[in-house]
Amino acid sequence: MKYAIETFDLTKKYGDFLAVDKLNLKVKDKSIFGFLGPNGAGKTTTIKMLTCLIQPSSGTAKVSEYDIVEDPNEVRQKIGMVPQLVSLYGDLTARENAELCADYYGLPKDLKEERIDELMELVDIKYAQNKLVRQLSGGQKQKVSVVASLVHQPEILFLDEPTIGLDPTTKSVLWDLIQELNHEGRTIILCSHDMYEVDMLCDHVGIIDKGLLAAYDTPQGLKDDILENQDKKTGLNISQIMRDLEENSNVNNISSFQKLKGSMIESEKANAREISVKIDNMCAPIMEELEKLPFIFEIAPTKSGRISIKIVNSADAVTAVLNTIIKCQGSISSISTKDPSLEDVFMKVTTKHEVEGE
Ligand SMILES: Nc1ncnc2c1ncn2[C@@H]1O[C@H](COP(=O)(O)OP(=O)(O)OP(=O)(O)O)[C@@H](O)[C@H]1O
Ligand SMILES: [Mg+2]
Repeated sequence: MKYAIETFDLTKKYGDFLAVDKLNLKVKDKSIFGFLGPNGAGKTTTIKMLTCLIQPSSGTAKVSEYDIVEDPNEVRQKIGMVPQLVSLYGDLTARENAELCADYYGLPKDLKEERIDELMELVDIKYAQNKLVRQLSGGQKQKVSVVASLVHQPEILFLDEPTIGLDPTTKSVLWDLIQELNHEGRTIILCSHDMYEVDMLCDHVGIIDKGLLAAYDTPQGLKDDILENQDKKTGLNISQIMRDLEENSNVNNISSFQKLKGSMIESEKANAREISVKIDNMCAPIMEELEKLPFIFEIAPTKSGRISIKIVNSADAVTAVLNTIIKCQGSISSISTKDPSLEDVFMKVTTKHEVEGE
């Protein structure tokens, strides 16, 4: 398989501080790769090394098959970058900035003007092309930065939080553009804290934490992994509940159910799945029957007239809840379940920073 990027123990130290620690990462050619991690995790540092803005302290990487340490000029020809902090010349106009980039890559005049026009129209910034960059708003600068990074049609595009501060319409234009560029065969590396954006756009996701790779998979794979682990845990939990019930021999004994419910530890509660149901003929007996179920952690009516039920994360629990409502002749007009999100994965695999010296 061809990789657009392959890192080999890529490491960056700032003095004694290890910002990126022996990172080994592969990004498939022509894919969209989401690079996630908490603030200060090492994403921008990694991107700066891969785009040859800074040198690694040790290790190396191949970008489009060129070594970042040995062949930085070749790497630079293949890549485009929208940096986290827009780096444009404030005293030049939006168009002049884009032209400067095109000149750096030696684009002939006609082609340069044509591409700049096309890109400016695409991200809707042409109306401000003759304004000085320092007079532009944050989002407008971001758009100019996108135009400048794409003018030479790079094979690999690095986007370091490109949609931050963009209005919803512009965000969506940029998402379309990212997908279009990818369909044209370009590889995209996307750093973002927007989990919806990453989930929707990316083929693979890497989560970095304190300079180390904490998780790597497809977005769905990462989410499934959470469910799988929970199922294993709750599977054990449910069989324990059943054993205890048998020993108790009285399944209808509400207090034994309550006792068992109470014994479910807090960490399992955190893994609970949420079901939200709208029952047209909601009444106290339905609520009472639901409360008796051993699978339930929490049950509460919501402002919108639904009831929100936090249950053990298993198919058995969902079935039990539905069966109970139906048995009580409840009429369900709407139901939704909340599955793990990329945000849940992020929270699970990353850790908080400790205060230095503690
Ligand atoms: N020039 C520098 N000198 C010293 N330390 C630095 C320098 N640049 C970054 N760092 C440190 O390296 C670590 C990683 O920073 P980096 O900018 O790569 O994080 P990030 O993952 O991009 O975070 P964010 O999500 O906030 O953009 C941080 O602890 C930061 O303080
Ligand atoms: Mg960053």
